[in-house]
Amino acid sequence: MKIFIDTADIQEIRRAARAGLIDGVTTNPSLLSKVVGDANIADYMKEITEVVAGPVSLEVLATDSEGMFSQGRDLASLADNVVIKVPLTEDGLVATRRLRAEGVGVNVTLCFSPSQALLAAKAGATFISPFVGRLDDISHQGMELIAQIREIYDNYGLDTEILVASIRHPLHFVEAAMIGADVATVPPAVLWKLLNHPLTDRGIEAFLRDAEKANIEIPST
Ligand code: E4P
Repeated sequence: MKIFIDTADIQEIRRAARAGLIDGVTTNPSLLSKVVGDANIADYMKEITEVVAGPVSLEVLATDSEGMFSQGRDLASLADNVVIKVPLTEDGLVATRRLRAEGVGVNVTLCFSPSQALLAAKAGATFISPFVGRLDDISHQGMELIAQIREIYDNYGLDTEILVASIRHPLHFVEAAMIGADVATVPPAVLWKLLNHPLTDRGIEAFLRDAEKANIEIPST
């Protein structure tokens, strides 16, 4: 399963990229609004695309298909690894077909049902983003949606990648991998939790303590 980082925070993106943990980035207008400040938005977006080699999702703001297409083209011109995020609406799917016809990658976002996911795949979406956390928030089983989409896409050999979004905790990530999702996009706080384990920390401390007690040092060659 590929791992994307779900943030627009350039410091977090740099740290995760340096650690070799991420294959791409997803942003949305809410995430950008938290970090962009006075920066030039195009420069800021371009900087993100330079930190990772993989896909960087940048979202349109227009809600009509013509506007989405035109904004998508503008965003795609920032860098080769830009993928355009469009919402899962009728206009969004029209824009998806047009952008895909021009060879631009599209991430269809705000997916909350299996029927929406099938329609997005038929429109040629590169990625479909089902939001598991937001479904859990309203007492639905977000991960059930991932399993349903996996089954439907496999039934028909659809190659749209399932990008699990709105991940809130490590269990979402593990379940996504067990279902066979293609990508999980993970906020920084969850990403670092995936890496850490208290028994790993305790184990390192014990090894170092025992080595010190026995005066063990690594011989240099
Ligand atoms: C990613 O593509 C989504 O924009 C993001 O995962 C949404 O997460 P949230 O529901 O925590 O805002």
